Amino acid sequence: MKTAIITGIGRGIGKALAEKFLAEGFTVIGTVFTSGQAAAHDRLAIHALDLSSPESIRKCAAAIASSGAKADILINNAGILIDGDETCLAPDKLRATLEVNVVGTAAFTELIVPLMSRDGHIVNISSQAGSIAEADILEDTHEPYHYPAYKISKAALNMYARTLAVRMAHEKTGIIVSSVHPGWVKTDMGGDEAPVTPEEAAADIYALAVSRPETGQFWFKGKKYPW
Ligand SMILES: NC(=O)c1ccc[n+]([C@@H]2O[C@H](COP(=O)([O-])OP(=O)(O)OC[C@H]3O[C@@H](n4cnc5c(N)ncnc54)[C@H](OP(=O)(O)O)[C@@H]3O)[C@@H](O)[C@H]2O)c1
Repeated sequence: MKTAIITGIGRGIGKALAEKFLAEGFTVIGTVFTSGQAAAHDRLAIHALDLSSPESIRKCAAAIASSGAKADILINNAGILIDGDETCLAPDKLRATLEVNVVGTAAFTELIVPLMSRDGHIVNISSQAGSIAEADILEDTHEPYHYPAYKISKAALNMYARTLAVRMAHEKTGIIVSSVHPGWVKTDMGGDEAPVTPEEAAADIYALAVSRPETGQFWFKGKKYPW
């Protein structure tokens, strides 16, 4: 039986991802921060994780390791967008965003890598907002001046995916790494006007996660997306 570790399964895309992987027969190890416990399932284990806390990251990874789990898939889904409507960079918000979306996510990943199987797949949920190639496109959906801290964090997360992919290949671990844009999704983060449901986004991410694509690439709906 295959195992997927998914961060942030209490709501939004992460919740839909956990449900999708369970429905497809996976064992799921999920994490929650402020959300209550997700619905119980005999193939679901839930751990507390605050990606802004090094201690919480260590404890969560240690608890997963001590369960003897071998992960086939890691989905780094948990993330924050705290810029609000700001168009100017607020350093405190940048610091807090990087701590969760980049530093904490990378620290957690590094502790999970040794628990992964040889054909493992690490999938980082990034965003179109992190695409440097599209940063100056003046379309409503790209909101070029908005949420700068979030955009910087997702660009950095993309580089983490790429550098980790190169390292995993160099070390011949067999582990591949992908970055994926989930679309504009109807969640607490995406808002009510978003056209994509969490279930639709989860189906696309699941298809990517269980496939064996070229490592170190940025994906959206099965196609490469510009970095
Ligand atoms: N929605 C969109 O349109 C969209 C577009 C592009 C990319 N994304 C990305 O997709 C991912 C999921 O987004 P979403 O829309 O589902 O967001 P969401 O509904 O706001 O959910 C955020 C998730 O992140 C977790 N989280 C927040 N702070 C955390 C922390 N300090 N430590 C650990 N977990 C933490 C939350 O856990 P708790 O509930 O337990 O606190 C929750 O599960 C994010 O990485 C986001 O950047 C979303």
